[in-house]
Formats: sequence, C-alpha cells, structure tokens
Amino acid sequence: MSKQFDVIAIGGGPGGYIGAIRAAQLGFNVACIDEWKNSKGGPALGGTCTNVGCIPSKALLQSSENYDQAGNHFAEHGIEVKGLSLDVAKMVGRKDTVVKQNNDGIAYLFKKNKVTFFHGRGSFVAAKDGSYQIKVAGASEEIISGKHIIVSTGSNARALPGTPFDEVNILSNEGALGLGAVPKKLGLIGSGVIGLEMGSVWRRLGAEVTVLEALPVFLGAVDQQIAKEAHKAFLKQGLKIELGVKVGEIKSGKKSVSVAYVDARGEAQTLEVDKLIVSIGRVANTIGLAPETVGLKLDERGAIVVDDECKTNLPNVWAVGDVVRGPMLAHKAEEEGVAVAERIAGQHGHVNFNTIPWVIYTNPEIAWVGQTEEQLKTAGRAYKAGVFPFMANGRARAMGDMTGMVKMLADAATDEILGVHIVGPLASELIAECVVAMAFHASSEDIGRICHAHPSLSESTKEAALAVEKRSLNF
Ligand code: FAD
Ligand code: NAI
Repeated sequence: MSKQFDVIAIGGGPGGYIGAIRAAQLGFNVACIDEWKNSKGGPALGGTCTNVGCIPSKALLQSSENYDQAGNHFAEHGIEVKGLSLDVAKMVGRKDTVVKQNNDGIAYLFKKNKVTFFHGRGSFVAAKDGSYQIKVAGASEEIISGKHIIVSTGSNARALPGTPFDEVNILSNEGALGLGAVPKKLGLIGSGVIGLEMGSVWRRLGAEVTVLEALPVFLGAVDQQIAKEAHKAFLKQGLKIELGVKVGEIKSGKKSVSVAYVDARGEAQTLEVDKLIVSIGRVANTIGLAPETVGLKLDERGAIVVDDECKTNLPNVWAVGDVVRGPMLAHKAEEEGVAVAERIAGQHGHVNFNTIPWVIYTNPEIAWVGQTEEQLKTAGRAYKAGVFPFMANGRARAMGDMTGMVKMLADAATDEILGVHIVGPLASELIAECVVAMAFHASSEDIGRICHAHPSLSESTKEAALAVEKRSLNF
C-alpha cells in the first residue's frame, strides 16, 4: 500500500516549499518531493532560488559591493584602505554557507510543519481512485499517492541554439555563480536581470565586462526614464553594454571564447573573452515529470497551462511558479503556492498580478511596481507623473549615494497610483511601501499626507507623491 497524502508538491523551490508549508498549516497531510542535490549528493531544498538564483547572487552582490566600496568609495569618507586584497575562494565559500543556511532553514520548516520530504525525482504514474500516483526516484524508488498535486518544477536557463552550456567557458547562472577566479575578460549575452546582476559582481571584482544585447533599447520592460538613468550609471562604472546586436557563431576554445556578432551599425565584430555567460531568459522545466502519462497539458513553449487560479486541465492538479505563465520571480511563485493551498482548503486564495514588485539588485538598484509611463501611453490612459531625485534627499547625501530618483504615476482623474519606478539606493526596500499603497488602491495624495521619518530615503517617495501635484517641498 503506497503512502497516501492529501497534497503532494513536486519541486521544493519557493512555489513548492511555501505551498507545502501553507497546506500543512491548513491541516492537510502534505509531502514535498525535490531532487536538487548539494555537492555531497544530499538534499538542498529551496530550488533555483536558494541554490543558484536569488540567494547566492545576492550574497555575491553584497560581497563584491563591499569590495568596491572599500576600494573606490571609503576614501570619500576619510577612510584610507591600504593593501586591499581579494580572496575569491573565501567569498564564494561564504556564498555557499549562506546557501546552506537557507537549505537547512527549509528542512527545519518542513519538520516544524510536519511536511514529509522525499529526496528524488517525482513523476506522474497514473490517476487512480481519485488520487494521483507519483513515482519518487531517489536513492531508492517508491510510489506515493496524493489527492491534490502542486507541480512546482521551476525553470532552466535558456541556451543559445547550437551553443550548449559547458559551465566551464559557456556559463549559465550556475557557472556564473561558481567561478573560482575573476576572469580577465567576461562576456555576457543578454542585458536582462541576470546579465546586469552577474556582470556587476564580476566587474566590481576586476573583470573587464562586455554585455551584448539584441534589443535596441536598454531594459525595454522598465520605465524608460529609469532605465536611461541606470544605463548612464552602469556605463560610468565601466560596464560595456552594446545594444541592438545580432549574435552569430560562438567558438569555445580551451581557454577562451570568441563571439561573432553584427553590431547596431551593421558591422561584423568579434568579442574575445575568457568566459561567456549566456543570460537570455529561462524556460519552464518539466524534464522527468512525465506529464504525458496523465495527459497534463503544456503550451507550445513547454510551460504547464493553467488558468488564473493555477488550475491545470486535470482535476486537483495545480501548477505554480516558473513552470507556468507570468513573471519568473520567487515571490510570485510563493504567492501562487499559498493561494493554491488556500483554494484546496476551500478558501479564496488570491494573487494580485498588478502589484508584483520587480527588483534588480545592481548599484544603483532598480525597482518598480505597476505600469510604466510607456505602458500608460500605449493604453491611452490619462496620468500625472511626479519625480523626486535622490540628489535632493538628505539621507542620500549623508550616505554619499545620490544617483537616481523615485517616479510616481497616478491616474489623472482619480489620483490612484498606477505605478512607481525607482532607481537608486535601497530601491529594493523602498518599493515595499509603494506595493502596499497600490494594493490598497491609495492615491498619490495619500502618500503625500503620510508622515515619513527624517532623514530617510523613504521621504523621496513622499516627495515624488507631492510632485504629482507639482508641490514637492524639497526640490
Ligand atoms: P525553482 O526554484 O526552480 O524550484 C524548482 C525545484 O523543483 C528545483 O529544486 C528542482 O530541482 C525541482 N524539480 C524539478 N523537477 C522535479 C521533479 N520532477 N521531481 C522533483 N523535483 C523536481 N527571483 C526573485 O524574485 N528575486 C531574485 O533576486 C532572483 N534572483 C535570481 C537570480 C538568478 C541567477 C536566477 C537564475 C533566478 C533568480 N530569480 C529571482 C528567479 C527565481 O529563482 C525563480 O523565479 C524561482 O526560483 C521560481 O521558483 P519555483 O518554485 O517555481 O522553481
Ligand atoms: P531576462 O529576460 O531578464 O533578460 C534576457 C535578455 O536577453 C533580454 O534583454 C533579451 O532581449 C536578451 N536576449 C534574448 N535573446 C538574445 C540573443 N540571442 N542575443 C542577445 N540578447 C538576447 O532573462 P535573464 O536575465 O536570463 O533572467 C531570467 C529570469 O530570471 C528573469 O527574467 C527573472 O524572471 C529571473 N531573475 C530575477 C532576478 C531578480 O528578481 N532580481 C535576478 C535574476 C533573474
């Protein structure tokens, strides 16, 4: 007799592990299956996010930022640093420790919430007697069955056609986060989120970084006033970003990689680098899941087809996170995991896709929620804009970090906030207030009337709100 569960999450990333915990909180008997292995072959819960995504990238961004501050900015504060040196192995080791703390934290949470964990690959076997049979293939094999299945198998890096990742010279996010030394010359294909975050890490540590981007505009999905400001800052830091290129043949030698491309002027060029990171987006992962055995429907891109409530075409089979439509973000996956667990319990789980924040953890940080000015124009929506530069903020001056601005967009008639876009210090934290405001359908006047601590960067959000009515006090 196979082990029976009310809910089985296949995949233990942010979508699956959070969904499993929420389902257990609601009183269900829950299992989570995850196949990720650490360097010793043991389990490493947390998926892409914890192992080769959000967490390790932020650890290296912090370490490399500290190095950059010590080398290039402490002197402005009267702090002289002599004999500054870099121990990449130690930095990468610290990153690995941070990852392990997070892996262990999730294992602890599973015990606390009585979620049964299976280490191995989960695949559909059959639908039988109102349950789904799932094979777990790990150190041994067994069949377990669950009434509800939450598929949360995540995504993988997209490779360039004909150029597979070898993780030695041609790197995905996995190789990019594990480099043991600073490459002299680093190339990146794609100036999206990973390109900019990983490019920043290795540039700060001393690599000469060139990013080749197909689109003619920088960060096309970002509000263009914000993107232009960020672009200026990155160029000043020494990131070389070539827009509007067409990447051609890539040749990987023993020690270097050459990338043939046509630049925006139509001229043939070659980029020679020691390492190449390919960061051109990610693809939904259903490898080994055997969706066809039960008739689980995928779309033409391989993502699992779901409705607004994360229901698939099969009864009681749900799918969340990177393996379905929508932004590939950890917090979006978590929200969907929670909402699905609540729907299974007969509650009204809900994800508001209009208020999912985005953050790019570069320096300056870029964060936004809601619609961009370009989107509002295209939609023909009448809006008012308020901008406040960090240059005029006392805390930013004291910190010595005055790049960027807060920009607020509000409906011309009702004043409801439609979008907030930030480039500058701690934008990742500042955006939270704006998400709350939008979730409660606040107006720009609401933010302008709320007391914000002085001196704080958050005063810039209030000032941007006041600027919507052209009445900033400090600019
Ligand atoms: P995943 O995290 O991919 O987890 C899926 C899990 O399922 C994995 O452990 C996988 O091994 C397992 N699995 C797959 N198939 C099976 C199977 N058949 N059986 C058992 N287990 C299986 N997002 C942010 O919000 N903020 C960030 O700062 C951020 N930084 C990122 C940095 C990088 C370099 C990358 C690559 C991504 C980053 N992301 C970030 C995106 C974020 O990592 C993903 O959106 C998030 O991990 C998606 O969660 P998920 O649960 O859907 O899938
Ligand atoms: P991305 O979608 O952010 O950027 C890919 C870039 O590559 C785009 O600018 C695209 O125009 C370009 N591109 C595509 N094909 C190309 C080609 N052939 N030649 C040159 N350029 C090409 O994807 P990325 O950076 O790989 O990240 C994947 C996803 O992971 C992100 O979209 C995001 O969802 C998630 N992520 C989130 C982070 C965060 O929240 N801070 C950090 C890192 C990743």
